[in-house]
Amino acid sequence: MAEVEKPRERCRTGIDALDSILYGGIPRSNTILLTGSCGTGKTSLALEFLIRGAIEGDRSMFVSVTETTDKLLANVIRYDFLDKKLIAEAKMVLIDLPVIYERLGLDKAELTMEEVSLLVASILNVVRELGIKRLVIDSITSIGYKLKTQEKIRDFILRLSKGLSALGCTSMLVSEVQPGTQAYSTFMVEEALADGIILMGNMERRGDLLRTLQVIKMRGTTHSRAKYVLDLTQAGVLLVPLLKGGSVNL
Ligand SMILES: Nc1ncnc2c1ncn2[C@@H]1O[C@H](COP(=O)(O)OP(=O)(O)OP(=O)(O)O)[C@@H](O)[C@H]1O
Ligand SMILES: [Mg+2]
Repeated sequence: MAEVEKPRERCRTGIDALDSILYGGIPRSNTILLTGSCGTGKTSLALEFLIRGAIEGDRSMFVSVTETTDKLLANVIRYDFLDKKLIAEAKMVLIDLPVIYERLGLDKAELTMEEVSLLVASILNVVRELGIKRLVIDSITSIGYKLKTQEKIRDFILRLSKGLSALGCTSMLVSEVQPGTQAYSTFMVEEALADGIILMGNMERRGDLLRTLQVIKMRGTTHSRAKYVLDLTQAGVLLVPLLKGGSVNL
């Protein structure tokens, strides 16, 4: 008798509209590329994914690459639902990657292939030891500039996503692209390796600059491919469909 394939367990992002778009959430253990140009709301959305998870009992970790986590929390939108106790009790862990670089002796301009392996192993060790179920790296693009070659970036993402998947950790790799570009990533290897792509953008509409979100691909589930208008509020990310006729369904 043919075996019926079991549906993949979902990691509910906690952003209701996004969970609806994904028919229940991100298939657990997927590695997602969260990509878009500057100011499109990538960090805010990624942070909400972690906070909502931590509230529900998924231990979460934010790995900050370019700005310190102190600066991040000072600058990012003040979510009503971010209880500082989540951080104090380590239900949500914030890590500055430069600190790890320094500890491992990787604080130099370009890493070798062996050093890439060391970096991946260290991140996976922390995930394993702390039992992290949701991980955000902000950004994979900044790590890419340290790896330089496509070969090393491919190796980093492949090892990391395989390791995270084995640990049952669902992750978002934040990717920065130039405004106006058609590409989903800077080094052109990230998009092919990721299990899913969520594209954030800016769009001019009647003199306003709207933020948009679109799920481009998501392995392990069907999903809407429609474009949504994104509103960043202190109660969280809100999404409404962008109607084809040109008006926004508010
Ligand atoms: N306290 C706040 N209240 C409302 N909106 C805020 C607040 N703080 C920041 N924002 C909005 O969040 C936007 C930045 O969003 P976010 O940092 O998530 O985007 P990003 O895509 O990560 O940007 P970058 O490319 O710079 O990393 C700001 O442009 C601002 O409009
Ligand atoms: Mg950001």
